[in-house]
Amino acid sequence: MSPAEERLNGCYESLAGRIPFQPKVALVLGSGLGGFADEMQQEAAVAYGEIKGFPVSTVPGHKGRFVFGSVHGVPAVIMQGRVHYYEGYSMEDVVLPVRLMRKMGADILFLTNAAGGINAGFRPGDFMMITDQIGDFVPSPLRGPNLDSLGPRFCDMSQVYDRELQAVLRKTAGELNITLREGVYIQLPGPSYETPAEVRMCRTLGADAVGMSTACEAAAAVHCGLRVCGISCITNMACGITDRPLSHAEVQQAADEAAPAFRQLLECSIRKMGELCRKGAD
Ligand code: HPA
Repeated sequence: MSPAEERLNGCYESLAGRIPFQPKVALVLGSGLGGFADEMQQEAAVAYGEIKGFPVSTVPGHKGRFVFGSVHGVPAVIMQGRVHYYEGYSMEDVVLPVRLMRKMGADILFLTNAAGGINAGFRPGDFMMITDQIGDFVPSPLRGPNLDSLGPRFCDMSQVYDRELQAVLRKTAGELNITLREGVYIQLPGPSYETPAEVRMCRTLGADAVGMSTACEAAAAVHCGLRVCGISCITNMACGITDRPLSHAEVQQAADEAAPAFRQLLECSIRKMGELCRKGAD
């Protein structure tokens, strides 16, 4: 077994006794969106620092724990705070939590993040369903010896964001009267925000929103067999699209303001995704 697989198994063993049920859906909460987990009925919570070998997040506003609870009857594990590449962790560290949630038994990974809008049709406060991604500006999380127990060496990426889950998100947003934009997410390494020239580059490459997470997590998730969906909360227009300088405080505030609608969209779509899982099991 590779050191990465041994480490993953070690994390799982150190956590297994505290997992109250097998989660169906794994949810990663981005900047400013962590409140979702506080407001739900929790069955258990495990701080990352209590898990042997687990990387611990250092970003202000990120709590750093797994919360287990039911979202409209669907057993879910929620990451309140993620591990970012810009914190100095290796890609193996960054995607370990995703692999761990797969090991817990989750079938679906729902990724959320705060992102800068590149598409000129977007406005701060918009939600963008991620339809595809560009992750080439950070190292691949699949580089190095393949973890054969998780997935194949040469992994198909033709449909990173599951079409059936995209349909669920579209339908749910429509029912809730929430405008849901769609587009391509690009991950840059951060931690600085982009320059106007970098944002122009991203636009030329076909990106609609830019952030500092998510694409590497989605790639690792597809590799280990999770069905993935993702929504970016457009907290600001990316640098150079408007003249205003960017601040983390502004990003956080916009995410806070969007939180109630975001919460509704998450809850209602997760309920439908739970039905999909049940149908799949029949
Ligand atoms: N760029 C990168 N990451 C971000 C941004 C941005 O403009 N806004 C929120 N996260």
